[in-house]
Amino acid sequence: MPDLTQMLQDRYGLEPDAQAEYMNQTIMGLLGRRVCRAFADRDLDEGLLNLLLACAQSAPTKSNLQQYSIIVVREKAKQKAITDLIPSMPWIADAPVFLTFLGDVRRIRRLANLRSHDYANNNADTFMNATVDAALAMQMFINAAESVGLGCCPISYVRNRIEDYAAILKLPDGVFPIAGLPVGWPAQVGYVSMRLPQDIVVHQERYDDGSLDIEVTAYDDRNHDRFPLSAGKQRHTGKYGVLEKCTWSENVTRQLSLPERDGFAAWLKSRGIDLG
Ligand SMILES: Cc1cc2nc3c(=O)[nH]c(=O)nc-3n(C[C@H](O)[C@H](O)[C@H](O)COP(=O)(O)O)c2cc1C
Repeated sequence: MPDLTQMLQDRYGLEPDAQAEYMNQTIMGLLGRRVCRAFADRDLDEGLLNLLLACAQSAPTKSNLQQYSIIVVREKAKQKAITDLIPSMPWIADAPVFLTFLGDVRRIRRLANLRSHDYANNNADTFMNATVDAALAMQMFINAAESVGLGCCPISYVRNRIEDYAAILKLPDGVFPIAGLPVGWPAQVGYVSMRLPQDIVVHQERYDDGSLDIEVTAYDDRNHDRFPLSAGKQRHTGKYGVLEKCTWSENVTRQLSLPERDGFAAWLKSRGIDLG
């Protein structure tokens, strides 16, 4: 069994306060998880995929409404069409399987019609529930896949070219992608990325971000010491330049200083999904 202290050090870059007596295979897998962006030339057995999809469907789902769908793409030509939409991530094409996790508010609308009931919930709450359902299913899939040695990486970039992507997958009204997920056998081990300290993310009894600046500055330093950001990973260098020390907080605030996918709400509306 790996050393819990070391695993928490890897996750936070801090001396942890945690009890080793509860360490087990599941916790070990969760603490050590990381995305995979390099896939070996090896197929993924249909039976294994079906087992992992059953794990995905075992996720909690709001009122058992099950407002999500999953599309499995194995055809190489279709995978190439998807990869062509995201030229900055060519490694996606190397995965034997490309999944898409979708919020699906269409199914119950159709059922309402079939069962002769009104449908009175085309709103932001339903959109949120469907998104959460799809995200939980995706994470359950990821956990199961990683437990057998597979690697995955959620891909929200599919939403950058959402019209084209929706056309490739023939998405009907009421169905929207939350993320793609290439799945395959890792060609590289990857690394555990460092997270914000619990002091920032976990609040006791009430919300309190009074120490945000101090804690994040310390996290920035720890993270930079372990994973200095190369020029290629620094965001919007045309506008902000390349820094010797580009910290996490510098980079994420650079990223969100420009709009990302701001046409998404309009696209949802065009697909019959209201956020009002
Ligand atoms: C909803 C979502 C969308 C993501 N989209 C992308 C993506 O388009 N491309 C990519 O390379 N990684 C993507 N990622 C992976 C994150 O970059 C990754 O989880 C993060 O850097 C932390 O690394 P870790 O998962 O190894 O801890 C996405 C992750 C999530 C949860």
